Amino acid sequence: MPAKPSGRAADPDRPPSPRPPRLHHGDCLEVLREMPGGSVDLVFTSPPYADQRKASYGGIRPDRYVAWFLPIAAELRRVLKPAGTFVLNIKEKASRGERDTYVIELILAMRRQGWMWTEEFVWHKRNCYPGKWPNRFRDAWERLLQFNKARRFAMYQEAVMVPMGAWAQTRLRRLSAADRTRDRSGVGNAFAKNVSNWLGRPMAYPTNVLHLATECGNRRHSAAFPRSLPEWFIRLFTRAGDLVLDPFMGSGTTVAAAHGLGRESIGIDTVGGFVEAVRREFPPDRPPETPVEPAPPRG
Ligand SMILES: C[S@@+](CC[C@H](N)C(=O)[O-])C[C@H]1O[C@@H](n2cnc3c(N)ncnc32)[C@H](O)[C@@H]1O
Repeated sequence: MPAKPSGRAADPDRPPSPRPPRLHHGDCLEVLREMPGGSVDLVFTSPPYADQRKASYGGIRPDRYVAWFLPIAAELRRVLKPAGTFVLNIKEKASRGERDTYVIELILAMRRQGWMWTEEFVWHKRNCYPGKWPNRFRDAWERLLQFNKARRFAMYQEAVMVPMGAWAQTRLRRLSAADRTRDRSGVGNAFAKNVSNWLGRPMAYPTNVLHLATECGNRRHSAAFPRSLPEWFIRLFTRAGDLVLDPFMGSGTTVAAAHGLGRESIGIDTVGGFVEAVRREFPPDRPPETPVEPAPPRG
């Protein structure tokens, strides 16, 4: 008697479940030097900010930040695939009454290194604490700088579409004649808008501003970002089976998000306790998470 098939046949369209994140304890510069070139689809990370949180993992002085980061950026560029993307979550602090300029200097230095500074996204922190400062208001947003090796890169815009919303439909019904023609006046690009094309459509592309709450529940790391942040960029710039790298992994938010979405992942951190905690979260016998598409943030 022929053997009974044991379960469903493999679906060729469905990529295999991701392996547990590959974790490295060490300085990312050293670990990156050991990695093969052109192997990573997306780097998503939040490095230590200048002079911040010295007590927990060592800050870098603002005037030394660019010199510290550039060799790491060079290695990230080497390990990234030609169509890959690097998203850097960073925000300069204010000291002695003005904003530090190291992020701006870093962008210019990375462009000289060969990166394209493709886009800047804003993470608007919906639930940031109230406060009062004599010369500014509370900081409620952070930068997400997008860098690429080339003008053409992998991007899956349909994966992050948002519901159009009733207000938009009301506005779209009141369109002027100009809104019903192709408008090239603004920046003169070839992808000009004809707003009336969107009438009656349930979904739209998001803006480059993400409205997400800050992470409150992560007790393992003082600077963790919410999982929905890397999730959004992982869905935008990768497909299931692709490889996501976080060289400053912390509590492992990026690798957990990548794994949950069916991507392979690599995480690096200098603090052994963080690496061990993430390792415990992903024991070799942990059943694979079914990739779920989280609710899209308001865009
Ligand atoms: C802003 S935190 C990242 C937090 C992370 N996004 C999360 O959600 O938990 C930066 C991390 O970089 C690590 N770090 C600092 N210098 C490093 C280096 N040279 N190589 C690797 N990790 C480093 C720190 O230990 C810290 O955990």
